[in-house]
Amino acid sequence: MVAIPAPAATALPDAPRFPFGRECPFHPPSLYARARSAGPLFAVTLWNGRRAWLVTRHEEIRAVLMDDRRFSGAMAHPDFPTVTEARVTVDRNERAFVGMDNPAHDHYRRMFTREFSVRRMLALKARIQAIADAVIDELAAHGPPADLAGTLAVKFPSLVMSALIGSPYEDHRFIIDCAVGRHGLTQTPGEALEKARALAAYFRRLIDDKEARPGDDLVSRVIESHVKPGQLSRDDFAEIGAMILRAGHDTTTNMIGMGMLLCLRDEDLRRRAADPASVDAAVEELLRFITPVQFSPRRVALEDVEIGGTTVRKGEGLFLLLASANRDERVFADPDRIDCARDATDHLTFGYGIHQCLGQTLARYELQVIYPALLGRLPGLRLAVPLEEIRFKDDMQIYGVHNLPVAW
Ligand code: HEM
Repeated sequence: MVAIPAPAATALPDAPRFPFGRECPFHPPSLYARARSAGPLFAVTLWNGRRAWLVTRHEEIRAVLMDDRRFSGAMAHPDFPTVTEARVTVDRNERAFVGMDNPAHDHYRRMFTREFSVRRMLALKARIQAIADAVIDELAAHGPPADLAGTLAVKFPSLVMSALIGSPYEDHRFIIDCAVGRHGLTQTPGEALEKARALAAYFRRLIDDKEARPGDDLVSRVIESHVKPGQLSRDDFAEIGAMILRAGHDTTTNMIGMGMLLCLRDEDLRRRAADPASVDAAVEELLRFITPVQFSPRRVALEDVEIGGTTVRKGEGLFLLLASANRDERVFADPDRIDCARDATDHLTFGYGIHQCLGQTLARYELQVIYPALLGRLPGLRLAVPLEEIRFKDDMQIYGVHNLPVAW
């Protein structure tokens, strides 16, 4: 038999414009895999003509994120890389610890770790379950068809955040509008900054309200433990609070929408996600497979650093592509396949190093509760439109679906 020669591998483009489009809505851009097989670093060109590096492999991404001496996460740094012009303005104005290096980062983050501890989150779990049951009751009462992305996927995390923070639930539309306005890829710098400022101003008013009428919530507790003793100013708390609100709404919402879409298309995944005994592994695999945060974390090199034979020069920016790390065949066998039997816990969906997601226990609990609750209560749940009618969030920093019409 004559062997058919393998097609010659097409050469990688030279510093293409980043971000790239996806060929398939369920997978990261194919260029990630091609770049990953060529080496851990790949040069790209940003919207402003500047060059930056994509870090594509699991090992090197972890190494950079652990090396906070040579790679800065200070968003106000003049060379900090961005995917849009609007993001430059937002980054320069970031006052919360997500945009700080140490020692300032740890100084502020420490004031909030207790609020997100496993103990505190476990105490919240019964409430999360009750919220899930209530939103599903409401969906069932509404009857089919319904758009899961615009209803339950937004409402459930919003109610959980409201229970945690103590913010009135009625404000969630405003909060989401601000979060989305900042996470979009299409806003002008002015619009993005306005949304960022509006959310911080909102949180500042919330602090005043809680000072006057304290409750059993994060804001009231942090006022007692850190604001009143003079360690945390009200303005700094407002900036951090706005960051927590943004982080807690948009991410989980997208994991619910995209995760449910995948469950409705894959019988094995659906069965495992519906069963409280196997849902934890299904959630980890979905977190790995979806990786909703598309263009963060980012860093800027503070000195020349060699990575895998290539030198990153001082002042050059890096994108740590978590979605690529999570499809790295060196760590995950057959990475483009959803396999709930694998151990996916090495995924980097929540980042790594000092900025690793503070809300990850909460996010996990929300997903571990909502998937089985929804799939268990509505066993006939199915997609109500052809896949072509689903609009994917290629226009957002946080990936997911804009709509998810379902019936049952
Ligand atoms: C599935 C849901 C979530 C995902 C995928 C996610 C992902 C991430 C990632 C990748 C980072 C690192 C960002 C960076 O280094 O630039 C991060 C940081 C953070 N996340 Fe999450 N997140 C989720 C849910 C949440 C929730 C529910 C909260 C809070 C209620 C939260 C609060 C935070 C905070 C405060 C940070 C900043 C940590 C720091 O800088 O020290 N996240 N998250």
